[in-house]
Amino acid sequence: MCNANESRKDTAEKGGHKCLVSRRNFLITSGVTTTIMVTMNAGTAMAEDVPAHVTEYPRKFITKMSSLKLDEPFDFNYPDESDYSENMIVKMGVKAGGGLGPDEDIVAFNYACTHQGGGLFETYKADTKSLGACPLHLSTYDLTRHGILISGQAYQSLPQILLELDGDDIYATGVFGLIYGRKENLHG
Ligand code: FES
Repeated sequence: MCNANESRKDTAEKGGHKCLVSRRNFLITSGVTTTIMVTMNAGTAMAEDVPAHVTEYPRKFITKMSSLKLDEPFDFNYPDESDYSENMIVKMGVKAGGGLGPDEDIVAFNYACTHQGGGLFETYKADTKSLGACPLHLSTYDLTRHGILISGQAYQSLPQILLELDGDDIYATGVFGLIYGRKENLHG
């Protein structure tokens, strides 16, 4: 399997097999820091291997799929409990990008507006399957299309929480997009 750290030399040695990482896959996996052994003072008596720090998105249980009611958002925190970690999950009744479940209609999004962090709490609109308008400058996001901006001052999509289904259990496993107010989604 390819990874972003493979060099052109590595690629050539694999008989010309191309190792391409799409922008989407890069963004999805950008919260993961690969372990790298760095050799300090190579070639000297002081040489030592220093392990790099490893951070991964947590796999967090959110709720039971059977407990979700149509167009009634359920709130949860992810990927941690700190600032701007509030999110919502909702079963919309229409197929959506990244949608979970047999009808691909269950999605989850962060509540912080990507413009200046306005809270989008309790702004879900069942008729348009959107979140907003933001109470600060009216940005509104389409939850059927990965949180793309419909109108308003923001210029980035709303971060979408990546979901996984295990039987009836729904887990959060990552974030697609940068959460407002953070240099990286994962602290520490
Ligand atoms: S903070 Fe939401 S539109 Fe400005």
